Amino acid sequence: MPVLAAEVLRLLAPKPGEAFIDATVGAGGHAALILRATAPDGRLLGLDRDAEALAVARRRLAEFGARVTLAHGEFRDVAIRAREFLGGEEGSGAARPGVDGVLADLGVSSLQLDAPERGFSFRAEGPIDMRMDRSRGPTAGEVIAAMAERDLADAIHDLSDERHARRIARSLKAAVSAKALKSTRDLADLIVRATGYAHGRAHAATRTFQALRMLVNDETGNLALFLDAAPGLLRAGGRLAVIAFHSGEDRVVKAAFRRLTEPGAGFDALTRKPVRPTTEETTANPRARGARLRTIVRREAEDGETPAAEEW
Ligand SMILES: C[S@@+](CC[C@H](N)C(=O)[O-])C[C@H]1O[C@@H](n2cnc3c(N)ncnc32)[C@H](O)[C@@H]1O
Repeated sequence: MPVLAAEVLRLLAPKPGEAFIDATVGAGGHAALILRATAPDGRLLGLDRDAEALAVARRRLAEFGARVTLAHGEFRDVAIRAREFLGGEEGSGAARPGVDGVLADLGVSSLQLDAPERGFSFRAEGPIDMRMDRSRGPTAGEVIAAMAERDLADAIHDLSDERHARRIARSLKAAVSAKALKSTRDLADLIVRATGYAHGRAHAATRTFQALRMLVNDETGNLALFLDAAPGLLRAGGRLAVIAFHSGEDRVVKAAFRRLTEPGAGFDALTRKPVRPTTEETTANPRARGARLRTIVRREAEDGETPAAEEW
């Protein structure tokens, strides 16, 4: 079951015939639920920067046929992708341009975490890769080798609130020089030694792995551009739902939604506080633990006009 499945469906409220964008289609879990709710003729555009995830989504969503369009790409480009998807409607005088809902379920997927060769997990032996899109960009190992110690320490601290960022960065650079940083296991062991805490509530490497993953995939930059672009794609009554997985990410979503729901900005909040998973869900799926869902809705214009119209 995808994270916060019932809550996502309640807040996005997909109906027959509607159009949706799943900006992080992953294995297609949320997408399948949305497609079921929009049957018989609703459409969905699913984006992912991970070609391997898209291959899984393609198989899982095959039963929906031409109602699904899948595209390899970053959600920072959601506006361009949406225009291609809605191409037939643009300029055709469609009464309600845009889509009825956009979902982003941020972070790393189980497909990625459970594949040691992707390098996301500190519990498995694998290369220090961590790229969500393996077709381009430097790996985490290359990023560690290329960055100055001070910049690396700042990034680890800023992206994960790691208290021992300086010590970790110093050890990382020393290990690179000694050619002793070859696998995720080396990386995790080195962090445990540098921080001196192996048996806390979370593994000592949790924060640093998160920071390196965010750095390698420019997650902060991508999220900011997505939050700028996605609201403009919604029809009146259309909803934007974002699931964040840690407090830093949630702060960015909260600030963007606060601006969008100011008087005159055109949106209303559907969630005053972030929606969290039930204990039942986190017991069944411990990875749902950090999830926080926020949703906004585009207001109907007073005169019945679609406010998004001028943006199309
Ligand atoms: C938590 S998973 C989504 C799982 C999905 N909701 C499901 O039900 O199977 C997050 C997905 O978002 C993708 N992703 C992360 N950042 C992205 C970005 N900037 N652009 C596109 N896809 C991204 C990841 O590759 C991953 O497959």
